[in-house]
Amino acid sequence: MKNAFGAPQSLLVLGGTSEIGLATARRLIARRTRTVWLAGRPSPALTAAAESLRVLGADVRTVPFDALDTESHEERLGKIFTEGDIDMVLLAFGVLGDQARDESDPVAAVRVAQTNYTGAVSAGLVCAGALQAQGHGSLVVLSSVAGERARRADFIYGSSKAGLDAFAQGLGDALYGTGVHVMVVRPGFVRSKMTAGRAEAPLATTPEAVASAIELGLRRRSETVWVPGALRMVMTAVRHTPRALFRLLPV
Ligand SMILES: NC(=O)c1ccc[n+]([C@@H]2O[C@H](COP(=O)([O-])OP(=O)(O)OC[C@H]3O[C@@H](n4cnc5c(N)ncnc54)[C@H](OP(=O)(O)O)[C@@H]3O)[C@@H](O)[C@H]2O)c1
Repeated sequence: MKNAFGAPQSLLVLGGTSEIGLATARRLIARRTRTVWLAGRPSPALTAAAESLRVLGADVRTVPFDALDTESHEERLGKIFTEGDIDMVLLAFGVLGDQARDESDPVAAVRVAQTNYTGAVSAGLVCAGALQAQGHGSLVVLSSVAGERARRADFIYGSSKAGLDAFAQGLGDALYGTGVHVMVVRPGFVRSKMTAGRAEAPLATTPEAVASAIELGLRRRSETVWVPGALRMVMTAVRHTPRALFRLLPV
């Protein structure tokens, strides 16, 4: 149940080492979130992530989760919900891939698509079902502006995010009125390990800014959140730019 600050008491992060996921967890712990589940591929980084939240006073547990192993999602994620209600699920896993390499390596390209899209469809449906069964909760999905319009420079990642975004919107409509809230978050360029070493895009932001926008969106029960907010207008223009012109732009 949410506390007097409107913050979730219990949080499940899918992609437990995600910098955006961890910044969100830190922010919510400061607002009295008590229980945090970090679901991710077992690694020293996952253990360290859990410890970094424990010292803030949260009860933190880790659970093995691989987005690509969709057969295991029902059992792995379902088990978490049997331990108690989860007020918020943050779908934070994803890979950027390497567009130049992946264009000539279809197996690698498929791995990007399967992680970001089919992995999220599977995990999203499992969590949505569990949230619906408990009758409340928010599913927050980290989409991206990259899904708004395919760019020459990253259309493999962008197309996977377009699929994820459409899926999350539809799921939100399907769950409307059930007590379960689905929020689609569309950040632009975020300075995290995912983008380390890449040239920054205009309006670049931080994991902490995304976390703050997520917290506000939760309080407002928003359906869509852009980070930074100015990207909403920018992307409206981008969406309507004629293709012949768009492909010439250095984006
Ligand atoms: N950074 C940006 O500019 C940006 C912008 C818009 C949207 N986003 C989206 O925001 C989300 C979080 O990104 P971030 O910036 O926090 O990146 P990050 O720190 O690199 O986190 C990515 C997370 O995805 C996990 N992951 C990758 N493949 C996985 C798999 N097969 N199974 C389970 N987990 C897997 C990673 O776990 P491991 O530790 O096991 O690798 C890590 O926890 C992603 O969906 C990303 O696409 C990011």
